[in-house]
Amino acid sequence: MKVLGISGHYHDSAAALVIHGVPVAAVQEERLSRHKNDAGFPLAAIEWCLDHAHLSPDDLDAVVFYEKPTLKFDRVLTGMLQGWPGSWRGYPKAMKNMLGEKLWVRGLIASQLGISARKVRCIEHHQSHAAAAFLTAPTQEAAIITADGVGEWATFTVGTGHKRADGSTDIRILRELRFPHSLGLFYSAVTSYLGFAVNEGEYKVMGLASYGRPIWIEAMRKLLRPTRDGAFALDLRYFDFLGKVESGYSERFVALFGPPRKNWQPIDLKGAEGQRFADIAASAQALLEDVMVGIAARLRNETGMSDLCLGGGVALNGVANARILREAGFNRLFVPSAPGDAGCALGAALYADRILFGQPHKPVPDHPYWGPEPDEAALLRIAQEDGIPAIVSGSAIEEVADALAASKVVGWVDGALEYGPRALGHRSILAAPHDVAMRDRLNRDIKYREEFRPFAPVVAAEHADLFFELPPGGARLARFMSGVVPVRPEWRDRLAGITHVDGTARVQVLDREMEPRLHALLEAYGQRTGVPVLLNTSFNLAGEPIVNTVAEAYSTFCRCGIDLLVAGNVCVTKPRVVRAQILENVA
Ligand SMILES: [Fe+2]
Repeated sequence: MKVLGISGHYHDSAAALVIHGVPVAAVQEERLSRHKNDAGFPLAAIEWCLDHAHLSPDDLDAVVFYEKPTLKFDRVLTGMLQGWPGSWRGYPKAMKNMLGEKLWVRGLIASQLGISARKVRCIEHHQSHAAAAFLTAPTQEAAIITADGVGEWATFTVGTGHKRADGSTDIRILRELRFPHSLGLFYSAVTSYLGFAVNEGEYKVMGLASYGRPIWIEAMRKLLRPTRDGAFALDLRYFDFLGKVESGYSERFVALFGPPRKNWQPIDLKGAEGQRFADIAASAQALLEDVMVGIAARLRNETGMSDLCLGGGVALNGVANARILREAGFNRLFVPSAPGDAGCALGAALYADRILFGQPHKPVPDHPYWGPEPDEAALLRIAQEDGIPAIVSGSAIEEVADALAASKVVGWVDGALEYGPRALGHRSILAAPHDVAMRDRLNRDIKYREEFRPFAPVVAAEHADLFFELPPGGARLARFMSGVVPVRPEWRDRLAGITHVDGTARVQVLDREMEPRLHALLEAYGQRTGVPVLLNTSFNLAGEPIVNTVAEAYSTFCRCGIDLLVAGNVCVTKPRVVRAQILENVA
């Protein structure tokens, strides 16, 4: 069967193609449209997936959308009526939003692709999340937790999954929590209160939390209380998910925690106000972790299963993930490379293949590289046309290792684009991880972002335990950079560029078979410095999506302080005079 999965119309639109039970292509719309977090109908992503597999829409057996729009409309309308008259401000916008394309998505997909609407199916949002987590994981049976802001009604589910010897597959959702009681919306309200953009700034809250103390946690517990059935409930007096849709918190929230941060207000961590924001971030983070660990531990006892698969946007919280692995009793924790809504495109396609159509289970290749390949020859041509030195090197790995050891910053493009928000070695900016000067240089000259946000390391799997305190199962969690773990104290000075203020790092543990070239680069760098670890950050500037093509990589290279751009065996060096001009413009 040929099944196309689609996510879109909320945030992080994407498409994924499954043929005969195995993924062949998946890509986020933002990587092609170049609009960060593109939420539109993912036409470019669909076209690329079909082109990649040499298919036309007629060849598809089914197209599966990642949520049920009528159920979602039911939730939006019910919420508005329940919240009336307080919800009147958000009502026109919500109705216009839903009554446009979103509600009639089956017809929209059918007309955009020129196929019969009978081929278009919709599955529930949290089924898509659960499938993205469980069906891509190398496990035969697992407990499953999904947690996000909100789908149709569900915001949090617990369940189980089985892949049986006869080829059949099932995913059972045992219980679900419904809107407006949502761990994701709780965290997003805190994100908004701290002056960051919802659905994007949650990473910043996690980074800021490391600078704070959880001294507001008792106040936070007023907002989110455990319930007797093992779930939790929000005290809705502290939130406003209907009237003030953009912020999500109420006046009562402000009365409890003080004035919110304006988005333009700098965070001075040495001042009392900056420390208050960091303490509030730390308190919200600690409460989210407590809730996740508590629910995961109960699910472990209930199911007796040794593996847990985690999906939904909350699964991007690497600090919480590491605590779940350490404390909830599971042996292994699987988080896919795209646990958020983009990953639902692949989840929906796999769910339809295995469960709606009953096709036999097949192992899914255990890597995140499902997008477009770069064109190295195009980079050579573009750079030469621009008069910038470019060569085809027979020993690119050795030359890049030399450059990194000499404190050069490298733009690294290699192989198919990652699926999900993290650069996992195919569209990365790489640098030496040893000192804070490099971290500050990357923040100032390249990423143009807040100083409190940490950079992540990548380490060869066979050396990971030497540098990082990985719990049992931690290497697997770190395969897609999904866990934050302590840097071993004796290495923190030599890994200061990637060690966060609390001594931790969001490490990627790299298996040779998953990415042999980056693994070879880590080995070559280790031979030069004694430390086979590199700083690895996504290849983009602040506010832009991760680069896809070599032309986009070259454009980014030209606009920031990257010294060397490498795509496969093509190496482009920035002349010193050009670099000086760029840095002058930045300053
Ligand atoms: Fe979601």
